[in-house]
Amino acid sequence: MIVLGIETTCDETAIAVVQDGCKILSNVVYSQSKLHAEYGGVVPELASRNHINLISSVLQQALIEAKCTLNQIDLIAVAKGPGLLGSILVGLNFAKGLALGLNKPFIGVNHVEAHLFASFIEKETPPLPALGVVISGGHTALLYIPELGRYELIGETQDDAIGETFDKVASFLGLPYPGGPAIEALAKGGNPHRFPLKAGKIKGKPFDFSFSGLKTGTLYLVKGQNALKSAALQIDESDKKDVAASFQYVAFKDILDKTRLALEKFPCKSLLFGGGVSSNMFLRELFALQKLTIPIYFPEKKLALDNASMIAALGYFEYKRYEKGDSYETDAFSRIDWALSSR
Ligand code: KG4
Ligand code: ZN
Repeated sequence: MIVLGIETTCDETAIAVVQDGCKILSNVVYSQSKLHAEYGGVVPELASRNHINLISSVLQQALIEAKCTLNQIDLIAVAKGPGLLGSILVGLNFAKGLALGLNKPFIGVNHVEAHLFASFIEKETPPLPALGVVISGGHTALLYIPELGRYELIGETQDDAIGETFDKVASFLGLPYPGGPAIEALAKGGNPHRFPLKAGKIKGKPFDFSFSGLKTGTLYLVKGQNALKSAALQIDESDKKDVAASFQYVAFKDILDKTRLALEKFPCKSLLFGGGVSSNMFLRELFALQKLTIPIYFPEKKLALDNASMIAALGYFEYKRYEKGDSYETDAFSRIDWALSSR
């Protein structure tokens, strides 16, 4: 079964062709990040307009690379949320139009759930139950997964998402957007134990996250107590790498500690990572050093960031599960509700 995946929930216009949910024939991702970098973050209106301009040529490219024609596509899968509504609607309506024109089934899937599927595309299905760790620009969540398609939320962020925190801390340090890769690169030569920053703990919710205090703590460290974001840096250029390394270490140590705690309470047979932040090599090494007794599934780097192969893989799974697609009534959603994540 050949599935066309479409992803436009944020600032990547992505289309992929995937066979039987596991063989990637093409994976075209057009990142608009350069366009948004000027504004220090994604501008929703610009993102949706650019999806409209780009989507047809991204589709052509995906078909050329996969050496297939539209008529060979058996199913059209699209991310229907969560994300920026205007952007999602571009992909969703494009998918509906294609499905209608080609008379092929169409299916809308959950973008965040798809990030977890990215960890095992082109690998064997992970042993279950699994613990899912979603760390992206918009989400930070620990999920108990008794079976694929069923998720129990164990913990989530109470304020900023981890990727968003990386992006904001990067901007305090004068680094470009997206901040995650810039912080990872700068942190390489830095001392992760120089500055005693802290991630938040939520009373009575040991698996929940809070990064806003870490963000503000880093702001005050580099610009002075109670400083505004726009204030000048008060540290030397040579100290920046230690700030980046200390911030990165504290953020990931928090993910590690809460993941370990969750594994104690909810024994699992595998650990699945998803989301752009999971492409970070320091994080991967930190987990590798733990010598956990269960296998860890990290997405291949190109599949950690937003892409459409993961949308096609989840679309295939969902279609097989119910043996049917969605109706054209299917709507976009901006926020996630894990209880409703499976159709
Ligand atoms: O999953 P993703 O592509 O989009 C969302 O669904 O949000 O994640 C984007 C986020 C951004 O916040 C970006 O700064 C972060 O992932 N990111 C990283 C790295 N690469 C991307 N964070 C830390 N280290 C990285 N190497
Ligand atoms: Zn994403």
